[in-house]
Amino acid sequence: MAKRSTFGSRFGTIAVVGGSVIGLGNIWRFPYVAGENGGGAFLLVYVLVSFLISVPIMLSEFTVGRASRRNSMRAFRKLSRIRGWQLTGYLGIATAFTILSFYSVIAGWALEFIRQSFTGEFMAMDPEQIKENFDGFVADGWRPFLLTLTFVAATAVIVAYGIEKGIERFNKTAMPLMLVILLIMCANAVTLPGFGEGMSFLLKPDLSRAGGGTLLQAIGQSFFSLSLGMGIMVTYGSYIKKQENMFRLSGTVVIADMAVALLSGIAIFPAVFSFGISPTAGPELVFLTLPNIFAQMTGGQVLSLLFFVLLLAAAITSSMSLLEVVVAYVSEEFRLRRRTATVIASLGVLAMATLCLVSQMPGSPLEVAGMNVFDLLDHVTSTYMIPIGGLLIVIFAGWVMNRTLFRQEMTNGGTYGAGLYGPVRAMVKFVIPVVITILFLNQLGLIRV
Ligand code: PHE
Repeated sequence: MAKRSTFGSRFGTIAVVGGSVIGLGNIWRFPYVAGENGGGAFLLVYVLVSFLISVPIMLSEFTVGRASRRNSMRAFRKLSRIRGWQLTGYLGIATAFTILSFYSVIAGWALEFIRQSFTGEFMAMDPEQIKENFDGFVADGWRPFLLTLTFVAATAVIVAYGIEKGIERFNKTAMPLMLVILLIMCANAVTLPGFGEGMSFLLKPDLSRAGGGTLLQAIGQSFFSLSLGMGIMVTYGSYIKKQENMFRLSGTVVIADMAVALLSGIAIFPAVFSFGISPTAGPELVFLTLPNIFAQMTGGQVLSLLFFVLLLAAAITSSMSLLEVVVAYVSEEFRLRRRTATVIASLGVLAMATLCLVSQMPGSPLEVAGMNVFDLLDHVTSTYMIPIGGLLIVIFAGWVMNRTLFRQEMTNGGTYGAGLYGPVRAMVKFVIPVVITILFLNQLGLIRV
């Protein structure tokens, strides 16, 4: 077998893993979830959850990946003596595939807004017209399809170039660019009249807006934002160099993820308050509220362009990690060339994305349980597939995989994480499985926390 690829450098490794975790979840989802769940109170819980729960899961995924050096299906198969664990791998691959299909639709919208920022189309519109403009675009069918197609094709080209020459190289350029754009937007936010109000909304712990659901929301947001529970970090882990310190890598990535989520909040909320718009606008915050704000703001057209480029960059660096999970599996298991596997996987994703697009058109008969396909896939992945995937991964890491191998691999034979390994192991083995089970039962409505 040909030598398996690894990431080229430490910075490259951080950029690639960071590229996966920093995505729409930080820029589009975090600000409104934090806003709806008590601002600063949510933030505090989110930080604790990220370090206590998400870091151990990320470390476990990396460990399973690097110890096996296989795609995420084969990894589980190789490291267990009991047959059947590869189902965890299959579930992850299916989750990644599904998420990618609706993620590509949102990315297509970002492309449309980049185009409209260039032409300045929505700059002269009032809120009513902006909504009509957006609804008209979604209802069109063809335009969203062509943009989704463009996005999937772009992702495929990068992934087809391979780990180091494609994914790593792209991330090493895109990640610093994203940071620069975000800082420009934050600098602009500081000058706005609503800065103080926006910041206190984001940061001040308002216990009246925090409830029992805050913890569960924080866990859900953290898993999504850190790309956990679907074998992405197993797959990326399989490309991490043997001498890499995975404790430091996980810590760096989690801190970067939180920093970007916070910066996005700083970029968005002051603007929202300055223009007297409701901050809890939910999922529509980015595509309806922000265009309204840009239309009214000085320098709005440039900022709008920058913002949607940022959104697109965030989306593509995450979607390549999703596609890589599928491509690694298809190419290794069916012994296909990387390029062929990428084409096959992308066509599959495009087919599923097309179902989402068609079901969003007005009067479409494609509806399940009152939801269009887009909402259905979003719901099924975040409510069922990610928590189950995460649960199975920690059970596997804590109870199935060989203990010595687990420790050796995670700590590089005892070199790193000396004081941290014990607590991490205890979290993986006992605490996290219990917590996720509770979260999951709660989501199913079987218990109420
Ligand atoms: N972590 C990404 C984000 O924050 C989303 C993502 C989820 C990417 C799952 C890959 C897998 O947007």
